Amino acid sequence: MRPPVIFQTTPFFSSSGDRRLNTLAKHFLQTESENNRNMSTSPTSSHGDSVFAHLVLAPEDPILGVTLAYNKDPSPVKLNLGVGAYRTEEGKPLVLNVVRRVEQELVSNPLDYDVALSFCIICRARNKEYLPITGVADFNKLSAQLIFGADSPAIQESRVTTVQCLSGTGSLRVGGEFLAKHYHQRNIYLPKPTWGNHPKVFTLAGLTVQTYRYYAPATRGLDFQGLMEDLGAAPSGSVILLHACAHNPTGVDPTAEQWEEIRKLIRSKALLPFFDSAYQASFFTCN
Ligand SMILES: Cc1ncc(COP(=O)(O)O)c(C=O)c1O
Repeated sequence: MRPPVIFQTTPFFSSSGDRRLNTLAKHFLQTESENNRNMSTSPTSSHGDSVFAHLVLAPEDPILGVTLAYNKDPSPVKLNLGVGAYRTEEGKPLVLNVVRRVEQELVSNPLDYDVALSFCIICRARNKEYLPITGVADFNKLSAQLIFGADSPAIQESRVTTVQCLSGTGSLRVGGEFLAKHYHQRNIYLPKPTWGNHPKVFTLAGLTVQTYRYYAPATRGLDFQGLMEDLGAAPSGSVILLHACAHNPTGVDPTAEQWEEIRKLIRSKALLPFFDSAYQASFFTCN
């Protein structure tokens, strides 16, 4: 998931929004640090030709920064007053029994599969402390491995940055805002048709929405020629939104060979692919 610092401030962004984006931007640059030990940096830190090479480190979040400073402080009598949370006499996180009991009830009587699954993941071994702004480090690490493959060269060469966000919609919004603020091109091309919220989310994020041909009603299949023509005509650097699998709403995906053609075109025109991977788990076997 997440997520960066000379940031031009535009009237569109609130100061808290700026801070969030600045913090995410930072993670595209920093080497391993205490709060994201398992998160690797993006090419921006090592490849001067990256489109994000101009980004510089943001200062720590002022509130969570206190906790980072506290963790680093070797003093035996230190006290963290930055975060309002219950502590044991030893200063360890205290999770109220009632919270544990309710969690247990939810897990043993799941009303809803997704809720139960989320709870299982979140409850186990979590001590209810505030997370770092970029999310759970292990979750990020495993997500990247799921998407890119555990032996991915991109991961091994520290060219992947992962930020955990709230839901798919939230991730799209954060990604869109990040690009609107830090990327040189504002055009984002969406397939026609696409999930109904895509145009709204990206417009509100500050990007200019365009479309590319995708679905051919006559064949009820992919309009591959139209897609290639439209992406071929997009200005260099444009952002191209692609559904990783199970395209919503058509259910039509490119074949492996067509993906390869799309990849080559995107690379040759220096377009920026932006994958919305909404149904990866549900449709794993179909794609
Ligand atoms: C293509 C696509 N992206 C994103 C989402 C939103 O995901 P979430 O419900 O996690 O916000 C959906 C949900 O329908 C979707 O179809």
